[in-house]
Amino acid sequence: MRWPPSVSPRRRRLLVVVLFFALCSIPGNYSQRLVTLDTIDIFTTHEWFPSKPTVYFHCNGEDKVYLPDVKEANSIYSFKGEESWQPLTELPKKKCKRCGLYEENIFKRDMYDEWELCYSDFKDGKYTHFKQGQFNATFLCPNCTASAGDSANHHSDSDVETKKTSVTVIIVVSVLASVIVGIALFGAYKYWQKKKRERDEARFLKLFEDGDDVEDELGLGNEL
Ligand SMILES: *[C@@H]1O[C@H](CO)[C@@H](O)[C@H](O)[C@H]1NC(C)=O
Ligand SMILES: *[C@@H]1O[C@H](CO)[C@@H](O)[C@H](O)[C@H]1NC(C)=O
Repeated sequence: MRWPPSVSPRRRRLLVVVLFFALCSIPGNYSQRLVTLDTIDIFTTHEWFPSKPTVYFHCNGEDKVYLPDVKEANSIYSFKGEESWQPLTELPKKKCKRCGLYEENIFKRDMYDEWELCYSDFKDGKYTHFKQGQFNATFLCPNCTASAGDSANHHSDSDVETKKTSVTVIIVVSVLASVIVGIALFGAYKYWQKKKRERDEARFLKLFEDGDDVEDELGLGNEL
């Protein structure tokens, strides 16, 4: 962006800061979609010799979440959602996450399953993932409210929110545009004033240099 010559660096910095805060304060969708593990039942362990498996849940680009209690195959573990390792992850609104359940062994990791964990898979905040011969787990996400009625409802919360956000964006952009146009006009006016003063000074000096033309110049000056 080119700034008008009259905008001082200090004012530019101020404008950038104002722009930054204006963009940050746009009301977004702050609802957290935390996913917790409700129940899990592993049907197998991938251990070669009888020992306790180390099971963990992992989403791409995030830390592993170890499930320290899950040690035995074929028993159902239920959780309160408040365990130290909960929640498992947080889901974005319009994107799925690639997550999986794994077993950590000394030399390699074994996979129970890996799948796309999506906000829209939760029905009434609950989602069951079952993989034949591997595990059956239910996940909870109370804020993932993509129930069947949601898609049928044309005025869902997200629509209203999107509309609100775009109105705010338009207002912020308009205000900023007016401010910038104002500064540009002010700069142009200042520039014109400076040029005029220079021109007047030059003409004034010229009056002394060309003493003979004083009368003409004054006449011309009055006309302008
Ligand atoms: C649901 O969202 C609210 C705020 O938007 C947040 O305080 C709360 O912790 C969230 N709950 C879960 C389980 O994600
Ligand atoms: C998986 O677990 C849930 C909750 O324990 C149970 O309701 C469901 O029937 C199970 N599904 C299978 C296929 O075992």
